[in-house]
Amino acid sequence: MIKKYLLILSVFIVTACAQNNTTSIQSQHAVAMPDSFSADAAMAVLEEGGNAVDAAIAAQFVLAVTLPEAGNVGGGGFMTIAFNNENIFLDYREMAPANAHRDMYLDSQGNVKPYESLFGAKASGIPGTVAGMWAAHQKYGSLPWARLLAPAVSLAEEGFIVPNKLAANIANYVKKIEEQKLHSNFVDYFAHAKAGKLFVQPELAQTLKAIQTQGSDGFYKGKVADKIVRFMQQNGGLISHEDLQAYHAVWRDPLAFTWNDYTLITAPPPSSGGVAVAQWIGMLDAYSDKHTPVQHNSTQYIHVMSEIGKRVFADRAEYMGDPDFIDVPVAALTEPSYIKKRAHEIQESTISPTPNIVPGLPESEDTTHFSIMDKWGNAVANTTTINLTFGSGVVVTGAGFLLNDEMDDFSAKPGVPNFFGAVGGEANAIEPYKRMLSSMTPTLVKKGDDVVLVTGSPGGTTIISSVAQSLLNALLFDMSAEEAVNAPRFHHQLLPKDTIRMHPGFADASVSELQDMGYTIDDRRFGDVHLIKRTEEGVDAASEKSGRGKSIVRPN
Ligand code: DON
Repeated sequence: MIKKYLLILSVFIVTACAQNNTTSIQSQHAVAMPDSFSADAAMAVLEEGGNAVDAAIAAQFVLAVTLPEAGNVGGGGFMTIAFNNENIFLDYREMAPANAHRDMYLDSQGNVKPYESLFGAKASGIPGTVAGMWAAHQKYGSLPWARLLAPAVSLAEEGFIVPNKLAANIANYVKKIEEQKLHSNFVDYFAHAKAGKLFVQPELAQTLKAIQTQGSDGFYKGKVADKIVRFMQQNGGLISHEDLQAYHAVWRDPLAFTWNDYTLITAPPPSSGGVAVAQWIGMLDAYSDKHTPVQHNSTQYIHVMSEIGKRVFADRAEYMGDPDFIDVPVAALTEPSYIKKRAHEIQESTISPTPNIVPGLPESEDTTHFSIMDKWGNAVANTTTINLTFGSGVVVTGAGFLLNDEMDDFSAKPGVPNFFGAVGGEANAIEPYKRMLSSMTPTLVKKGDDVVLVTGSPGGTTIISSVAQSLLNALLFDMSAEEAVNAPRFHHQLLPKDTIRMHPGFADASVSELQDMGYTIDDRRFGDVHLIKRTEEGVDAASEKSGRGKSIVRPN
């Protein structure tokens, strides 16, 4: 049950105000992207006079071709935009089909059926990406839509040279399909993509051309829609023509909160990320009021941030879901006295008790994020996903694109963890046309009217840690973009009990000290941050080196 709160609003909504955001320090374009194809396409748009939103649209469609693990037309995402001093959030998250219902992934005993929400046509929500890009273009686009689709069309039609990391991910996925005897056409579409060789996707090129010539209708109506619906009918999926036509992207007020001299502009529900980052950063501040400041990546820092993470994720599970369906108490969850109270419960060297529930942690994952800033200082932070690597693992026959498995982000059953180990309840139960709760947190930070930071990451629930820590790295610990994205990060999400997921690269002494305190260390990496930082000296951009990203800064 969602509780009602009467606490004072601490989160204020940033609304439009029409001023030009040109400043003396801005004359550079910058992109921090998850691959070189999207980086080059986005930069070409900026150099041609397009704005940050134009560049984002071009990049989004390129990623659907060159980064099929996560780039998509069959998924959804969020875009946080600062444009001429207007701050706005585009929600193009998938929606549950009309025939979805809360127990659709349970067997007759009421147990969650493994895989049904993760693999195959039934795992897909109604895709939102094309509607989202179309809405972004209608509102902010300055170059023609067809021009923005052109790089993606040509990369699909003429092909691109397959990067090693993509080839390796495909090979691993093919192996998984074969080993687990999953029913999928993935192999037919992707198995011939080999490292260093040209990879052509003619069916995807046709889909992209339909979108290029007919806009959003080229996807939600006509031949592409027919192919999606036929595929659903033949493979036990739910998405109908009515569902495709009912899909709508939503413009929302971003969540905005002040921190030191800054304003953070970030993701509101149906993302849990903005509230979570506000809580994480707010509790660190409140903790620091009463204790000596913690040093970056010290044992103390990791412990305190982990204690905060437990509280953040407890709230996430209880209160968060689609704001069009439930009342999410955003203001109460970010209210300073509440944050202070929670922070002051944290003990310097003792782990607070957690109910002894041990769900599984993720094994592999994919989503993708990019950050763009144009020469006028407009900025876009965009995170997009089909959920896991290669989404639901099935390709719409004849249309050449992978579908999402975003339905797994709902709670299939209260208290039962999803793939990312996140639990939820009523607030995030499945309902027709509801949006599933997300952790994607594309975030902008402003100082006065200027955007000084653009950040975001993939990684499921770990996104929230990556965003909070990359932001603290860049602005509290004053790191360069390069340092801020590559400094090792860690993540604690309440469950499994007392477990910290940590990148390699922390001091051995810290790891031992944390183990001595009672923590279990899970050493798998997560996410790759793509970040732009702007200072008086100019614009600095970086893509985390663990991925296959590329950042470019060019003078105007
Ligand atoms: O929306 C979400 O929170 C997840 N579907 C995102 C999945 C993800 O980030 C996978 N990651 N690398």
